[in-house]
Amino acid sequence: MAMTSLTRRTLLAGALGLGSAAALAACGSGNEPVGSAAIASAEATRVRSGRTRRVQLEARPAQVDLGGRVVDTWTYGGALPGAVLRATAGDRLQVDFANGLPEETSVHWHGLAIRNDMDGVPHLTNSPVPPHGRFAFDFVVPDPGTYWFHPHTGLQMDRGLYAPIVIDDPHDPGGYDLEWILVLDDWTDGVGRSPDQIYADLKNTSGSMGSMGHSMGGSMGGDGGDVTYPLYLVNGRAGTDPDVLRAKAGQRVRLRVINAAADTIFDVALADHRLRVIQADGRPVRQANAASVRLGMGERYDAVVTLGDGVFPFTARPYGKQGLARALVRTGTGAVPAADLVPSELNRQPLTVVDLEAAGGAALPKAAPATTQDVTLSGSMNGYVWTINGRTYDDTEPLTVRAGETTRLRLRNASMMSHPLHVHGHTFQLGPAGGTGPRKDTILVPPMVGFEVDLLADNPGRWMVHCHNAYHAEAGMMTRLDYLT
Ligand code: C2O
Ligand code: CU
Repeated sequence: MAMTSLTRRTLLAGALGLGSAAALAACGSGNEPVGSAAIASAEATRVRSGRTRRVQLEARPAQVDLGGRVVDTWTYGGALPGAVLRATAGDRLQVDFANGLPEETSVHWHGLAIRNDMDGVPHLTNSPVPPHGRFAFDFVVPDPGTYWFHPHTGLQMDRGLYAPIVIDDPHDPGGYDLEWILVLDDWTDGVGRSPDQIYADLKNTSGSMGSMGHSMGGSMGGDGGDVTYPLYLVNGRAGTDPDVLRAKAGQRVRLRVINAAADTIFDVALADHRLRVIQADGRPVRQANAASVRLGMGERYDAVVTLGDGVFPFTARPYGKQGLARALVRTGTGAVPAADLVPSELNRQPLTVVDLEAAGGAALPKAAPATTQDVTLSGSMNGYVWTINGRTYDDTEPLTVRAGETTRLRLRNASMMSHPLHVHGHTFQLGPAGGTGPRKDTILVPPMVGFEVDLLADNPGRWMVHCHNAYHAEAGMMTRLDYLT
């Protein structure tokens, strides 16, 4: 569609106004606004609904009840998970954030392809928010889907600081009667060691080669994560005191499943039901039936189920670890199945990203990649160091793109653990752009496996690219994607 230069100038002027407000809010950071004109003009091209949603959000210490066990932790607004943040695609979201924690923090909107200077990465896109500090987020939400938010500061994500985001689609084809958001987590804070203690222990014990897997009860060099957790949660509840969805037999429920764990991959299933997967990381896929689905940290899958009559556990089994997390669906009478029941669906091969295809319209535009770049994931047993292209974040050589170009990322996992690789501000396509692969913002790369993904550079800025294992990221497994001017 042609746009007159007058309209375009008016749009740009409006966007610049927004940009300078953001710059003011971030003032005193020592953070130079990178390509702020390009960021503002990208924002000006986003389709708007004309509606503005205003939300208050506070990070603060709170006590939460994990099935009879009351623990002190850090939360959003005192709830676990934090309250769902909901808007419709095209809405302008204004989040008035207050930091009630005793240390600095940040808020990152995982998966939302928003303007770079609102992405919430401290020292890169925004200043850290100090204790008692505030920040006024203000951005347009472009794409419908299931997302979540969490801090991008140290290991804070492994406390209770996480909450779902649902961006409704004004053109939602529907096909379901109700929805259920299911947030998965691995829990230690206030029950086992603190996240900081776990990290210190990983650093200390990994010096002596090979002893780490055993002393952590985990499986360094295997594929079950590095940390053993005393509890696994669905919607902030232990399996002994599960969240319950009450519904009617025959109703169709849209499940929005989010893996908010720090170090745990989950396989999920609803006992005695088939899952009809409709979205991956908020992007439509051709419907695929599955008994169970595997989610790496940061990944989301949406599925529709038609409910039977009775009481059914929705069970999340931590991959390579002991324990279960669950919630319950109740449509009729019947006893609650035993807390340690493993639904037979979890004994089937779980659906993963390679089983999916982009739905019509969800593919990237077909394009020959202008560049091909390696993203090699590996680790060193010596000193608990995790790297991308052989380098930790402080020493990284960023990936680069030019606006409008497509780049091919050659993801290679050269380690014996799975890594969920996450790219901020974009969704890439598995396989060639314009092909049949699903769109994702986080992709679980199994040990010694390679994936090629294509990314269209349509959102200027400097973006994080990292493993979504909180401990791996902390240990250096992060790099950047920088737009060249
Ligand atoms: Cu879930 Cu760098 O983010
Ligand atoms: Cu990792």
